Amino acid sequence: MPIDVAAAVTTNHRLSTNYNVLALAAPDIAAAAAPGQFVMIKPRRGHDPLLRRPFSVFEVLRDRDGAPTGISLLNKWIGVSTGLVYGAQPGQLVDCFGPLGRPFSLVERPTEAWMVAGGVGLAPFAQLAEILCAKGVASVLFYGARRAEELFYLDYFRRLGVELVLTTEDGSLGERGRNVAPLERRLAAWPSNAPVMVYACGPEGMLAATAKTAARHGRPCQVSVERIMGCGLGGCYSCVVPMRTDEGRCHHVRSCLAGPVLSGDQIVWEEHGS
Ligand SMILES: Cc1cc2nc3c(=O)[nH]c(=O)nc-3n(C[C@H](O)[C@H](O)[C@H](O)COP(=O)(O)OP(=O)(O)OC[C@H]3O[C@@H](n4cnc5c(N)ncnc54)[C@H](O)[C@@H]3O)c2cc1C
Ligand code: FES
Repeated sequence: MPIDVAAAVTTNHRLSTNYNVLALAAPDIAAAAAPGQFVMIKPRRGHDPLLRRPFSVFEVLRDRDGAPTGISLLNKWIGVSTGLVYGAQPGQLVDCFGPLGRPFSLVERPTEAWMVAGGVGLAPFAQLAEILCAKGVASVLFYGARRAEELFYLDYFRRLGVELVLTTEDGSLGERGRNVAPLERRLAAWPSNAPVMVYACGPEGMLAATAKTAARHGRPCQVSVERIMGCGLGGCYSCVVPMRTDEGRCHHVRSCLAGPVLSGDQIVWEEHGS
């Protein structure tokens, strides 16, 4: 069951002029959160902004004994609420409701986990990688951004034992271009009898390209879609995603309930391009 708490900000770590990691004291949400789930956040009391905003659970924070104490959010400032999250002060209370939505399905060894993250789409992969690496699942992160300064938490993933494949659009770190290119190459070279699960989170075009690439190589792909979410609870239909049924019919699902993690090969991507 999701929990609604007024969570105190414990730290606000600025990563750049528009990215930060906000830590919230929310032990019950932390204890219940599965990788890929999200919380609905209202960083300021009152009517502006009126609605909460969705954020992936980035890290589950723990005390020395391993007990969950809170969660962190990886935030990219693009508007009113994300600006308030960027500017939040320690001690400030943030309304936080969650965890919500359908999480990623976890794989077991010997299946490998290949995570594809674009920009702030890195957010759900910190917790996913932590859990998969603890289970001994070999994990690769194909992580792309516009430039080197926008690739964050690399040491975090290295410490877990995740192999990093980095791309930047300007070539300032890793391969120049988009992260789907090295994914495609590795899928093409991978033995067909070696199981792989592709996980993706990022801009819609990257998700579509990743899902289509995985499908072309006959690999399963779970994508975390990002829609504008008014309620996070199935009431407003602001978050619908067109999906194809097994019989080939198109229908719409509310991504706050059926997702945000959906099967990449069932989403009707044509409407969003690739
Ligand atoms: C399941 C889920 C998980 C998310 N996780 C994260 C996360 O971990 N970190 C993070 O920084 N962001 C995340 N987002 C995106 C985040 O919710 C939006 O950036 C936020 O709602 C914008 O709020 P705002 O008040 O700052 O922007 P607003 O002032 O409301 O809008 C500013 C501009 O951004 C556009 N916009 C608003 N929301 C979106 C959106 N979802 N996609 C595209 N354009 C949008 C608006 O149309 C407007 O043009 C997630 C979204 C979803 C659905
Ligand atoms: S966000 Fe309201 S129905 Fe999904």
